[in-house]
Amino acid sequence: MEAAVGAGSNNGAGTSVSTDLPAARLIARLAPGEPEFESRMRESLARAEKWLQATAQEALDPRVAALIGHLADAGGKRLRPLLVLLGAEFGDPWADGVTQAATIAELVHIASLYHDDVMDGAATRHGVPSVHARFGERAAVLGGDLLLARAAQLAADLGPAAVHLNARTAGRLVAGQLRELAGPGPDEDPVTHYFHVAAGKTAALLAMSLGIGAVQAGAPAPAAAALTEYGEQLGIAFQIADDLLDLKSPAGVTGKERGKDLLAGVASLPVLLARESTDPDDAELCALLAAGPVPPAALPRALELFERSAALAEAEAVMQRRLERARTALGALPALPARRALLALCDYVALRTS
Ligand code: IPE
Ligand code: IPE
Ligand code: MG
Ligand code: MG
Repeated sequence: MEAAVGAGSNNGAGTSVSTDLPAARLIARLAPGEPEFESRMRESLARAEKWLQATAQEALDPRVAALIGHLADAGGKRLRPLLVLLGAEFGDPWADGVTQAATIAELVHIASLYHDDVMDGAATRHGVPSVHARFGERAAVLGGDLLLARAAQLAADLGPAAVHLNARTAGRLVAGQLRELAGPGPDEDPVTHYFHVAAGKTAALLAMSLGIGAVQAGAPAPAAAALTEYGEQLGIAFQIADDLLDLKSPAGVTGKERGKDLLAGVASLPVLLARESTDPDDAELCALLAAGPVPPAALPRALELFERSAALAEAEAVMQRRLERARTALGALPALPARRALLALCDYVALRTS
């Protein structure tokens, strides 16, 4: 890709994009009292944002630009670029290609959301109509493909290591989505199937984000490996937290419809655990879920039953165990502000509301 946003190097030169992105605000909360670290992160996040915007602006046709810019413009936490930059802190954070690596991670993420919202039939994301609601399903799928192509193009500019990481991750992600679509095999335990799906569709990209940041910054191989393992564990926990938010968090906070997983018949972890529950208090919920997608009229009752179900608490416990494994992986890393931020991110994932 042309260096559409200027120098293409990550040397900290001026940028006109706001440094007050949600991820920048998050970093201040994760590692308070580290002004140098915080300002470096803010600046790099802003540069990655500029590369992201340039992707849509590169489209020659304004309708294609609107299609591929839709979700990037609508919002998002930019968690994956943040992870890339945190990974890069274990090497030279100003190394060439770090910001582009952060952009690659967000492009792949946004592409996966284009495809995911078609799969789930979701009407909204970030509080605005989903891509397919605005442009139609066929355009949404092709828009997602174009974003993946842009990510691949950026990776090619960075070299074989980035190409390899990006290709492997995109493959794991799409395979995870396909596995979700197919459902468990005849002899497969649905909860085991869930973990395979979450590892592919969610954890692979979080792991890659940390790994590509470390590799691009020239961090030592053991640090890159520890960061990748952290990302794998954090990713599963992140997906479970997302499943829980579907049941607990109001649409005005998440930007997604509350209970959309139940309406779409998605086998989220709390749903699977509720289906398996032998707790007599879960019997009504079990019966509701056994009938397939929850009908809209029954949604308020299903949400009410979930609130006090053992399944919800059990899913939370599974998430906490994954977060513990993520924290353990950080033990191998030097005590930098980024390590502190990654530790605090585990608490953020458990407590987040959107
Ligand atoms: C949503 O990811 C999809 C999942 C992996 C659960 P995020 O919650 O990070 O979505 P954005 O980036 O804020 O839109
Ligand atoms: C995560 O799954 C989507 C991807 C990682 C592609 P979900 O289906 O749970 O994501 P949301 O809830 O729609 O954001
Ligand atoms: Mg979805
Ligand atoms: Mg979800």
